[in-house]
Amino acid sequence: MLSSDAGRAGFHPLRVREVERLTDDSVAVTLAVPPELRETFRHKPGQHIALRRVVAGEEIRRTYSICAPATEAPREPVLRVGIRLVDGGDFSTYALKELAAGDTVEAMAPAGRFILEPRPGRFAAIVGGSGITPVLSMAATLLAREPDASFCLVRSDRTAASTMFLEEVADLKDRYPDRFQLVTALSREEQQAGLPSGRLDEERLTGLLPALLPVADVDGWFLCGPFGLVQGAERALRGLGVARNRIHEEIFHVDDGTGTVTSSPVTAATSSTLTATLDGRSGNWPVLDGESLLETVLRSRADAPYACKGGVCGTCRAFLVSGEVRMDRNYALEPEETEAGYVLACQSHPATPEVELDFDR
Ligand code: FES
Repeated sequence: MLSSDAGRAGFHPLRVREVERLTDDSVAVTLAVPPELRETFRHKPGQHIALRRVVAGEEIRRTYSICAPATEAPREPVLRVGIRLVDGGDFSTYALKELAAGDTVEAMAPAGRFILEPRPGRFAAIVGGSGITPVLSMAATLLAREPDASFCLVRSDRTAASTMFLEEVADLKDRYPDRFQLVTALSREEQQAGLPSGRLDEERLTGLLPALLPVADVDGWFLCGPFGLVQGAERALRGLGVARNRIHEEIFHVDDGTGTVTSSPVTAATSSTLTATLDGRSGNWPVLDGESLLETVLRSRADAPYACKGGVCGTCRAFLVSGEVRMDRNYALEPEETEAGYVLACQSHPATPEVELDFDR
C-alpha cells in the first residue's frame, strides 16, 4: 500500500512491530516492512528515516537513525530506529508515552549520506548520547560483512543507566573481540581507574585518541551527536593531522541559529523566481519575501522532500542548477557536496533574480 504522495518524499504507512524501552528516556521502535516495500526501505548503514504525525491539523516530521544492521536482498530489511526523548519534543514524547505494537506510523524511505559501506580497513567513531544509533548500524554491518575491517567506538553519555544500546554494543565486543574496540566515557559517573570520565572535549580527545589507535591509519572517522561534541572531535582530529575528507559528521539537536554559512554571503535578491524539478516535473514560482526555497516549492508541491527544516537532516538537499543562493545554516552537507553545487532548500534564499533547483539529482 502506498500513500497518496509517494515519490522521493512520499510517506508510507507502516505497522509498529515492537517498541522496546532502552533507557528511562529512550526506546527502539521496529516497523514492519511489507514485501512490496522491501527495496524502498532497504537502508545503508548510517541512514535515517523521517516519520510524520499530524496533531490538531499540524504536521510534525522528525528524522530518526536506523540502528539495525543493513541487510542485502533477499533478506528482509529490519527497520529499527532509536528515539530519545527531547524536552518538549512532540514526536519523541508520543513515541515514548503512547506508541505501541500494532499502531501505524508514516515513514519516508531511508535517506542520508552519513554512511559507511562495508569495506576492508580501519574505522572509528566518536559519538555522544543518541549519536550511537547510526553508528551501531555501521559497526554491526561492517564487522559482520567484512572480515578485514576493524572498528573503534569512543562513546560518551551521562551515566550507564542513560546509555542507549548498551547490550547491542556489548554483544559486538563479545562477537568480535579482536576487531571491535570500545571506550566509554561517562560525564556524571565515577568510573574505574584508567577510563576517561567527564565530557569528551577537544583536549581530552587529543590526549586519548593516539593512545587508543594509530590515528593516521584510520580510513574513516564518523562523528555523531550534539553540535559541541562533534565540533570538538573534529578539531581534535584535524589537530592530530587527519585529513578533512576522512571525517564524516552528523549532528543531532541543533537548537540555535549558529550554524555555518556555506555559500558566499551575498545580499538577498528582492524579487526572484524559482524553477524547480522534482520527480521529473518542473515548475516555476515567485519567491515570497523571507521564505526559504523549500517553502516556495511547498506552496505548490506538497511532495517536496523535507523533515527537520533546520538544516540538520539533509532531506531537502537539491542541486543548484543556476543562480546563487544564501544558506542560513548547514549542518547536513559535507564540504564536497556544497562544492559540487548542492544546497539545503530549507535554508536557501535567492541571491539572484532567477534560481533553478533540481531535487532529482
Ligand atoms: S529539511 Fe532537514 S536539512 Fe532541510
